[in-house]
Amino acid sequence: MNQGKRVGIVGAGNVGATVAYSLAMLGSCHEIILRDNKIDVARGKALDMSQAASAVRSHTVVKVAETMEDMVDCDVVVVTAGSPRLPGMSRDDLLMTNANITKEVVEGIAKYSPNAIIIMVSNPLDAMTYVALKESGFERSRVLGMAGILDSSRMAAFIQEKLGYGGGQIRASVMGGHGDDMVPLPRYSTVAGVPLTDLLSDKEIEEIVHRTRHGGAEIVACLKTGSAYYAPAKSTAIMVEAILKDTKQIHPCAVYLDGEYGYDNVVSGVPVMIGANGAEKIIEVTLNEKEQEMFKKSCDSVKELITTLEKNKFFDGEK
Ligand code: LAC
Repeated sequence: MNQGKRVGIVGAGNVGATVAYSLAMLGSCHEIILRDNKIDVARGKALDMSQAASAVRSHTVVKVAETMEDMVDCDVVVVTAGSPRLPGMSRDDLLMTNANITKEVVEGIAKYSPNAIIIMVSNPLDAMTYVALKESGFERSRVLGMAGILDSSRMAAFIQEKLGYGGGQIRASVMGGHGDDMVPLPRYSTVAGVPLTDLLSDKEIEEIVHRTRHGGAEIVACLKTGSAYYAPAKSTAIMVEAILKDTKQIHPCAVYLDGEYGYDNVVSGVPVMIGANGAEKIIEVTLNEKEQEMFKKSCDSVKELITTLEKNKFFDGEK
């Protein structure tokens, strides 16, 4: 039941609110605190969700934090706050804007919920997870990024669509950063234990890999005014639950690498054992030469963003 657990969610937009809704329906924690600059919108959503929780006889209460000061002693804080890319904005502009938002939010988390585990959702995901780690001063096991569960779920859905069967039995694996050069791993994807490579042709698998890499953009193109939120939110809720329930199960998450896979000072998506202490163990999967090459390309893209932040003196003045 996890009585007494409190989850903070910064950013009550589509993703943040849907994470809250998902957790409230499951009764995963006793309290959810929503924080958004649009306080009344957050308040309305919190009331609405508390009432939905009552409807399903869930004990979860959803509240609003008017400032970060109200977000005290959370066990987990999910950060979805960030600016979407606006017309005329370069990728680097978005990087700097969201890095500044993340910095401010994370300073508040470190101050008022110093024992929390942070789950970053804001984009560019891997770079924002890096920023959250550096700015919080938390140990790396307490700062995770959500992307791998989402990307793997997308791949699994595309596999099911291609096969026409196997729903609910598909385990797809995606590693690397949450960008166009993420690393879908057909070799580590199975349907009821049967390797994908025994079920589909190389061409079919390549189509799935391509669609997975562009899965977010496919949805943006349909929605026109925003990006995906049901799968991103559910993937985040799965991570929150794994922490609150101390499941010790393996999920692909973005974490700071400190020598794993031969990389350091970068955040990338890898299989992680999640428990009450956050990323309790990083699993090192054996990658073949081609997979290693793809993983390197993906890590290099994240490093490039970190370098841009450094060049803009973002981390200067750090303790
Ligand atoms: C996606 C964006 C939100 O993958 O990162 O849907």
